[in-house]
Order: sequence, then structure tokens, then C-alpha cells
Amino acid sequence: MSVFYDEERKLFKLDTAGSSYIFEIYDEGYLVHLYYGAKIPDANVGEFRDKGWFASECPVNINIENTRFSPDVAPLEFSGEGSGDFRSSAIAVRNADGNNVTDMRYVSHRIYAGKPSFEDMPALYVNDESEAQTLEVRVRDSVTGVEALLSYTVFEKYSAMTRSVKVINASDKAVVIERVMSCCVDFDTHDYDMITLYGKWLKERSLERAPLSHVKQGIFSKRGSSSHHHNPFAAIVDRDAGEDFGSAYGFNFVYSGNFIFDAEVDPFGGTRAVMGINPDGFEWTLRPGESFQAPEVVTVYSDKGTGKMSRIFHRLYTDHLIRGKWAKIKRPLLINNWEATGMDFTGDKLVTFAERAKELGIDMLVMDDGWFGTRDDDTSALGDWFVNEEKLGGPLSDFVSRINALGIKFGIWFEPEMVSRDSDLYRAHPDWCIHVPGREKSIARHQYVLDFSREDVRDYIYSLMHGILSGSNIAYVKWDFNRYLSEVGSAALPPERQKETFHRYVLGLYDILNRLTTDFPDILLEGCASGGGRYDPGILYYAPQIWCSDDTDPIERLSIQFGTSMCYPASTMGAHVSASPRTGYETKGNIALWGTFGYELDPNKFTEEDKEIIREQVNEYHKYYDVIHSGDLYRLITPDRDDFRAAWMFVSRSKEAALVTSVVMRRPEQNTFYLKLKGLDPDKYYVEDESGEVYSGALLMNAGLCLNRFGNDDGDSFKLYFRAL
Ligand code: DGJ
Repeated sequence: MSVFYDEERKLFKLDTAGSSYIFEIYDEGYLVHLYYGAKIPDANVGEFRDKGWFASECPVNINIENTRFSPDVAPLEFSGEGSGDFRSSAIAVRNADGNNVTDMRYVSHRIYAGKPSFEDMPALYVNDESEAQTLEVRVRDSVTGVEALLSYTVFEKYSAMTRSVKVINASDKAVVIERVMSCCVDFDTHDYDMITLYGKWLKERSLERAPLSHVKQGIFSKRGSSSHHHNPFAAIVDRDAGEDFGSAYGFNFVYSGNFIFDAEVDPFGGTRAVMGINPDGFEWTLRPGESFQAPEVVTVYSDKGTGKMSRIFHRLYTDHLIRGKWAKIKRPLLINNWEATGMDFTGDKLVTFAERAKELGIDMLVMDDGWFGTRDDDTSALGDWFVNEEKLGGPLSDFVSRINALGIKFGIWFEPEMVSRDSDLYRAHPDWCIHVPGREKSIARHQYVLDFSREDVRDYIYSLMHGILSGSNIAYVKWDFNRYLSEVGSAALPPERQKETFHRYVLGLYDILNRLTTDFPDILLEGCASGGGRYDPGILYYAPQIWCSDDTDPIERLSIQFGTSMCYPASTMGAHVSASPRTGYETKGNIALWGTFGYELDPNKFTEEDKEIIREQVNEYHKYYDVIHSGDLYRLITPDRDDFRAAWMFVSRSKEAALVTSVVMRRPEQNTFYLKLKGLDPDKYYVEDESGEVYSGALLMNAGLCLNRFGNDDGDSFKLYFRAL
């Protein structure tokens, strides 16, 4: 049992292996948050915490005026709008009278085994009801009759929870949701830092850490996708927390569209953190009897810094987010032609890629952008998903057969959500894209975004995709998305529902992803969005891997991969060796091994020496696959902390094997440097594969490895593999 209800104290306690989350039903049905942090056995925290949530100038509910309770000061579990709490609210619903005062109080609750799934949105899942327990609390606004179901699912063994909110219009009039946060946590102090992942194209998910202050701090997207600019991840950590010590609270939104995460320090010293759909650009009309399910937030608590927080996320996502055939089996090692050829290729040329790939032990060839319609550059043809047989030298199925005959699997690129201005599809259906009538449509990369909130548009695109995927032996699809949404409106929605377009678009995307993964369960799907511009748990629910970034410079990649690893496991990180000149193949390979691994270059240009290195890398990919994909990641030296080196290691769950990698980013000043390993068993002895040297785990973790014997020039790197004796 991980969810407890104390009837006498009217208190909920949600325990995981390492955390407790506690709230109570206070006077007048207010849900008051009491504690979130390291696991505690006590049930009497209500008495402990009840120290007077009162501020004389703040409005108070009239029935509890004398109990020294102000909603603006009290830590609230689900704060409403305009009813005495002036901090960021968790919900605002505009009622038929036109005002949006919302005040939800406790009605009932239920506790059950397992976890419900959503009809039309991604969410973490359980394989068996015993793997999680769910608390559902019903709250109601007594004036409008609108209700909400607050869901908390506890994944006990992971120190993790998922939270979401369903708004139900139980009244007899239509209402409009203006804001609904899937998660709200009121911390009782503000002595925290906030860690976020900011970026842009070629610089995705770069770590940023800043102290919380009496300023509302937050990240958001209003670009229609989760975006390059801020990942829907944030951590609130103790001010002195590091990789291995201090409390760290991680939040990750299982959603691929507009979002916010705000941390607001109030004048009384507490911190409110909220996460949900970005209310900017969002409204949702609910007719009587209708409901709206907000996406879910994953929360993770670690008592040992950000390192443990990340490892909890990684295991949780490996076991309860990533699905399907490819979730746990070995992924094919692929070569993609994009960086080598752009759209300037022919079928014959790609066959030579496959021939070289075969010689080197690579499993799959991926044909990227440019195989359809009249697409020879990025100005045309998106939406015209008809094979360019002239380019491929015949029908796709024949071309794929030529590749397969070499013993190489075949994968293909799509950008289903887009239409080029110069395309037959746009000429036939100019109203099928996201637009606002009478207003010029901004263009990006010569393309518009198709209105995926519309079923007819989705049906058309999917029928073309279906035809291509079922007509040839296709093992892999790369799903790309290369511009953000602007002038957002849908021709299919009435004026009062235009602000539903953003969310309906995301639901439309999920609908197609759902159809694709259901109809083609054997296809490995890789997400992509101008590199890593939509790297979020929503996409990972359908696509077990996501292209991390178009930046394949190995040194710049380091900070992208370190940032990505904050919450996303190595098995999800699309990482390839490219022709980038900054380092040799060895270092490029050592860095790409952290992810799904593959190549993005012209294999015809390899020298004999290159080929030897590549063959060796392919062997290493197989040798280290399990420890990287199923092991635990320890970040040893993060590139944002040290200008000179980066280092990381994977340790198998049994602690029987470990792979350590280090890269010199810039020649270090210091000559002698000891790299202290982590995560090993101190009592075990480990043999280092190459030298045969034996060390205890205790020595490797406390004294460290002397790095003097390894190259110290820019771009040098090494990896060491340890096996327990
Ligand atoms: C952007 C992707 O990130 C690239 O890998 C490539 O697929 C191009 N799009 C193709 O247009």
C-alpha cells in the first residue's frame, strides 16, 4: 500500500520507496498541502504543520474567518482563481455569467490499484495493477457546479508520481476553461534553485540553474510544440544540492504542445510550482456533461541530488512510458543519408550506401528527406507523399528490395504535419493549414503547418502514409517537424472555439501517432523536430527514440546529451557519428555510443583506416549495448562545470559491469587528474578490460582513476570497461 487515508485526521499520505507526499482536507473543504520530500513515517504532520496560515490583509472565507486561515498564505493543493489566493492558480473556469472566479473544495475521494490510461493522450502505464496505486480526489465549485478530479498515481518503487486533472462540467450551462494546471506543489520554503533546459536549434536542452527569488520564474512554450527553446522539464533543488546530494524534485510534462512551468516565491516565504498547458492561447468550452482531461505531469523526488533524480526518471520511462516491440529489444544500428547527400541523391547512390553499410556491420539504411513529389530542395512538395520513382529508379518496393537483398533493413523519413506552399496539396486545399482568415500566413522553410485538429486532413495524410508503409518492407520511420505554429486558427472551428486549436492540434498529432503505431507495430519510430525540437515524454510514448539535435559536432553534442539526460534515458537519444571535422572517429563514436548510435555520413568516403575504426565501433555498440541501454547513468564531470573535460559512466543494474567515458574538450591546465567513479559496489573487485588491471570498487570511487596515461589534447577521449570479478 502506498496511498493512505487517515479518516480521523482527514489526511492523505502518498508514500514511495523514497518520498512522502501529504495533504489534508481542511476546514470548509480546502485541500491543504502539508509535505513533499524524503519519506517520513509520521501521520501527525497535520498538527505539526498547522502553524497559522494567516495574513491580516488577505481575504478569508467568511465561515472560517476566525481560524486564522488565509487562502493566499495557506499551501493549497488545487488553488482556484479570484477567491482569496493571489498566487498562480491551478484552475480558472469562466462561467455562464462571464466571470472566472473558481473555488474548488473537497467532495469525495477513492483509492484504487493500478493507473487509468487516457483515451486520446499519452500517459505512463502499468503492466499490472500491482505496480501502482491511484488516489482520485473530487473537488467542486459550489456556485457553478463545475467539478475536477485530481489524480495522483504513485509508482512506489521509483519515488515517482504522476498527476493530472480532469475538469467536468456538472452544471447545466456551458463554461470555458481558461486555465488548468496538471500539477501544483506548494513548498514551505524558497531556499531552492531551479534547473531548466533551454536551447535553440543546434543547442537543445542546455542546462541552466538559477536561484529562486521573489520573482515569478518560469519556462514555457507557445510555439505549438514543446520546442527547442524550453524543454517541458524543470527541477526544484536545494540551493546546495549537487549531482549526489541534496533534495531534487523533478517535473516533466507528458505533452508535446504549449506548456508552462512556473515557480513563484510568495512574500511569506513559500514557493508555488505549477505545470500545465500554457494558458496563453488556450481556452476550452465545456457543454453540460462534458469533461476535459489535462495531460499528466511526472514528479520525481530524489534525496541524493540530480544524479539519482535522473536515474529514477530513466528507469521509470524505460519501464512505464516507452512502449511496443522496440521498448526493450536491441535497436538496429542505422546509417542516415541526410548529412551526406541532403536531397541530392538517387536510388543507385543509396544502394552504394547500403553496400558499404553491409561491409561494416551496419543494420539499416534510412532514406531521409527528398524521396517524394518534386522535392529536390526544401521549397516544395511536403504533403505530396508520392514516391519520386525517377529519383529512386523505380517503385519504392523495388528499391527497398534492392536494399533488403544486401541484408540491410530500410527506413524512411516523413514530415506528415506540414505542407509546402509549392505543393499539389496546398494548391488543392489552401484552407487545410493552420491559419486565420484575412491574415497573411507566416512562412518558415517555405512551408505551412497542416491543421491536424481536423479529422479530414489527418485522414488524408494518414491514408498516403499508410499506402507507402504497407506497400514496401519498411522497418523504421523518422517523423520530422520543422516549423512552429503561427497565426493559429482552424477553419473547422467556430469563433468561440478558436483558442482550442493548439490543443486540438496536439490531440490530432497523437491520433495519427496512435494509428501508425497500432497499424505498424513492428516499425521503429524515431521522433525529430529540426533536430531535438520536440523531445518530450508525449512523443516518447509513441517513438522510443528521438533525434537529439542536428548539431553533430561531438564537443557541442556533449552539453546537449548531458542536458537531455536530466530526465530522458540513453535509449531514447538519437545520436550519430557524422563527418564533423572537430575530432577523429574514435571520439565521435565514444560520444554517440551514449545514445541510440548510428552514422550520418557518406560511407563511400571512408579510408581503409576509417573502415577499421568503424568496424570496431560496431563491435563496441554490440558489446556495450546492455550496459548503456539498461544500466544506470552517472554523470561524473558535466561540461557546464568543467571547461576541460566531460565524463560519464553507465553501471549495469547488477553492478557487474561499467563503461566509463571521458572526453577532453580543451587541453586541461592540470597535469595529474583523478577521475572518481560512481555507482560501483565498493566491496567488489573490477577488472579493466583492456589493461587487465584489477581495482576495488572502493578504490575506483574514492581514490579515482589517474587520467595521465590518456591523451590530453582537444578532442581526445577514452572509454574503459570494467567487469566485476
Ligand atoms: C531536420 C532534421 O533534423 C534533419 O535530420 C533532416 O531530417 C532534415 N530535417 C530534413 O529536412
